Amino acid sequence: MSEPLSFELSRPAVDPPRLPEAEVAGPAPADVLGREMLRARPPGLPRLSEPEIMRHYSRLASLNYSISENFYPLGSCTMKYNPVVNEAAAALSGFADLHPYQDEDSVQGALELMWRLERALCAIVGVERVTLQPAAGAHGEWTALRMIAAFHHSREENRTEVLVPDSAHGTNPASAALSGFHVIEVRSGDDGRISLADLESKLSPRTAALMLTNPNTLGLFEREILDIAEMVHATGAMLYYDGANLNAFMGICRPGDMGFDAVHMNLHKTFTTPHGGGGPGAGPVGVKSELVPFLPAPTVERTNGHLRLDFKRPQSIGRVRSFYGNFGMLVRAYTYILAMGGDGLSQASQDAVLSANYLRKLVEGDLDMPHEGPCMHEFVASAQNLHEEGVRALDIAKALLDRDFYAPTVYFPLVVPEAIMVEPTETESKATLDAFAGAIKEIVAKAKSDPQSLHEEPTKLPVGRLDEVSAARRINAYLQGLSEDPVLRWKAPAEAPETAPQQTLQESPC
Ligand SMILES: Cc1ncc(COP(=O)(O)O)c(C=O)c1O
Repeated sequence: MSEPLSFELSRPAVDPPRLPEAEVAGPAPADVLGREMLRARPPGLPRLSEPEIMRHYSRLASLNYSISENFYPLGSCTMKYNPVVNEAAAALSGFADLHPYQDEDSVQGALELMWRLERALCAIVGVERVTLQPAAGAHGEWTALRMIAAFHHSREENRTEVLVPDSAHGTNPASAALSGFHVIEVRSGDDGRISLADLESKLSPRTAALMLTNPNTLGLFEREILDIAEMVHATGAMLYYDGANLNAFMGICRPGDMGFDAVHMNLHKTFTTPHGGGGPGAGPVGVKSELVPFLPAPTVERTNGHLRLDFKRPQSIGRVRSFYGNFGMLVRAYTYILAMGGDGLSQASQDAVLSANYLRKLVEGDLDMPHEGPCMHEFVASAQNLHEEGVRALDIAKALLDRDFYAPTVYFPLVVPEAIMVEPTETESKATLDAFAGAIKEIVAKAKSDPQSLHEEPTKLPVGRLDEVSAARRINAYLQGLSEDPVLRWKAPAEAPETAPQQTLQESPC
């Protein structure tokens, strides 16, 4: 169940890889860099034969948990199945082999895809234009706030505050703070929705924007959204939509029609290719006409069927990402949108909401439900009912791992104690949802009969419970200069030089 590091598997006797001679003419590295800059010997990289390295990575891959193998009900992250056709489209050589410095005339197809994706996203969220540059949701939030700041600045208004509900995703206040705004928290009411009275008391001529996600992170639709938009606009502020929860109503209603002025979308959630594995994401931002002049440059423009990049945008906030964004993600999202069509997208949202409500109903006798249903595409339960048994949300999450399920999001949103946030998505079958609810039922029964045993789970995985308390204490002690640095990476043993042959850079084949 475990795999040594490639450094530990390394065999000094293995021959270096046979690579073809570099056929690049030009000066020797020493002439360019100076001899003193060259390594005396190659880096101590592990030495393994090709089959050994292949098996090492295959074994590591088999330890991974992924959406391709099993259920991943990670609330707020929309871990939906990623259709293989997306990957096939992104791998087409006409897309995958492009170079970002290619001449515009030679990349008309790629620009056309970006242009068409922008049109599709505009239609889905109800905005005028979209920038495809931001690389993730949080980056989209920051980009939109930069545009909002530039908009207020252009009107010579000094607006320094951004309002954020207490149920918001942590990236919202972080993006606002990074953009130089003061973050003002708006309280939720007892029903889990934003308190209009508290909002009213915090709106002022200093307010630049209210950041909101709808449905909110409790999976509840903000029914008063039109009133909220009116209140925000009446003070001259803008309404920002955190589109991470767009999966709840694609093709059914649109943030633009609800009064939102700027919207980010997590292509890597709503439009498949979830980013749980840490892969690249894309967080395009859509804006209404007032914000269009401030969009990052370049934008993709189409004149008489010819596509070009427009860099001449005098009020633009500038480029927010090298080149044109994570292009491969744009191809995947566009493929998904085309494959689904408008009806398919709205069906996906309806199924996502149905799945969440079905699952919520199945587990509501086992866990607390702090807010009345029905929910949208996700729900937040609480393990507070197991407090007397000493069982916490973390124990439930760990126990699920032993039952072949990925753990839901826990301890978020912060407004719910012992929160367990479940987002089943539309791509799971009834049988999977039933099995998940069955596992929760069994864990809760165990919590009542033998709570201690739950503290020891997971027992079937390569790594059990991590000692987070000791880790935090050790890092603290290290930061205060009271202990040696924690072991966070592999370090060569003192005799390491033997693992690499004595070669100079010039002699090294790679
Ligand atoms: C509600 C919400 N907003 C914003 C984000 C940030 O998105 P990203 O992780 O792509 O930066 C997330 C991510 O989980 C989210 O759930």
